[in-house]
Amino acid sequence: MSDYIAITGGHDVTEDIHVSGSKNAGLALMAATLLASGTSTIQGIPPISDVNNMGRILQCLGADVSCVDDVLEINMTNAKQHSIPDELVSSLRASILVLGPLVARFGYAKLCLPGGCAISSRPVEKHLRGIKKLGATVNIINGSIEALASRLLGATVNMETPSVTGTMNVMMAACLVHGVTRIHNAVREPEVVDLANFLISMGADISGIGTDCLIIVGRGGLSSPSQYKVMEDRIEAGTFLILGAICGNPLTIHRCNVEYQTILVKKLRSVGAVVDVVGNSVTVHKAEKPCSVDIQTGPYPAFPTDLQPQFTVLLSLDHGKSRVVETIFESRFGHCPGLQAMNAKIQINPGQVAVISGVRKLSAALIAGSDLRATASLVLAAIAAHGTSVVGGMKYINRGYFDLEKKWEQIGVAVRRLPDEQSHISSKYD
Ligand code: EPU
Repeated sequence: MSDYIAITGGHDVTEDIHVSGSKNAGLALMAATLLASGTSTIQGIPPISDVNNMGRILQCLGADVSCVDDVLEINMTNAKQHSIPDELVSSLRASILVLGPLVARFGYAKLCLPGGCAISSRPVEKHLRGIKKLGATVNIINGSIEALASRLLGATVNMETPSVTGTMNVMMAACLVHGVTRIHNAVREPEVVDLANFLISMGADISGIGTDCLIIVGRGGLSSPSQYKVMEDRIEAGTFLILGAICGNPLTIHRCNVEYQTILVKKLRSVGAVVDVVGNSVTVHKAEKPCSVDIQTGPYPAFPTDLQPQFTVLLSLDHGKSRVVETIFESRFGHCPGLQAMNAKIQINPGQVAVISGVRKLSAALIAGSDLRATASLVLAAIAAHGTSVVGGMKYINRGYFDLEKKWEQIGVAVRRLPDEQSHISSKYD
């Protein structure tokens, strides 16, 4: 399928949009199924490419994975530690999430280092340190992580600086060890809470959920959950909330738990947008008198790094002079060259600071994203811009957003997937 879409912007979007299940919580839940030997049934994990690749990883480990409608069944009866092809491990960063469950359940894990990506070098030493603290021997041999443990014991693990998948990995392993594990400086992301609830549904004993100190009392064994529904994707929801503030007509987002969006809603209101909440449906109206606002990304509940590129688009439009400070990833301004090509006035300063001077309108351009959220940001910019833009990077969008083109069409975005023969179109941002 072509990597490029054409979007004719400047039209008002209308109607309602529904949020899918969470990519990042779903990937963690899938890895956690390795902790028990039965069949786990999980509803609502979207069939995006990262999820498909995680499914392939579990299949390499002997799992039987099937999906009917939106219900995923993972049967671990024949699971054991097998080698996972390096290409599969490096196809998604979340592959590292199988490390903790494999060591805890089978006493052995081997997988290649997941490597870097466009947004950061994405090191994993916190994961390894946490697993070592529980008693595993961990070595890196020829670019592969090899972890071995005859008996794991509960321990105090200090994450020092926050890591989402690092916290998840240690929490999953700790569920099967002997004794009590305390994870200090744990992150409080809703996806970690969803994983903790999933583990509890498997019989795990976890307290301190949603705080920065998780206490896990290890159990001899866990059982596979027969029914669990993954939380909604709060980053997809946030992307739509920002779209609502960009477009002319109000946009209503359904299956949007506003509790997870506190900082985003606060910032949307600060720029003048009107945000109405009725239960799990949120309607956003564009600002009549747009104002500037500064944002700084950080671990939950601070502003999510995964929404920074999309919010930058909003700030690029008529909102005066704003500052965006990125504190999580060292290269998360990959969307800025594309936005600049569309006429946005963005200056990148040292220290991961972008200074944005809002312009009256963005112009259509040929642009391409360098990662998932950068591409989402360029799509929002193309929807706002006047004229037809060609946006590359749909391979990234397909990793993280389910049925997005269909959802855009439903709300009236003029979007068209370019045929393969036109996919040779490239841009300097590739
Ligand atoms: N870090 C280290 N050492 C480690 C682990 C992390 O230095 O051992 C650093 C990272 O380089 C980064 C910071 O700590 O600077 C935070 O990284 P974290 O470990 O929290 O990120 P992650 O767990 O690899 C998850 C999400 C990301 C999201 C980040 C931050 C998944 C599968 N991925 O990544 O999602 O941006 O948390 O919230 O849960 C996305 O969905 O587009 C995405 C990138």
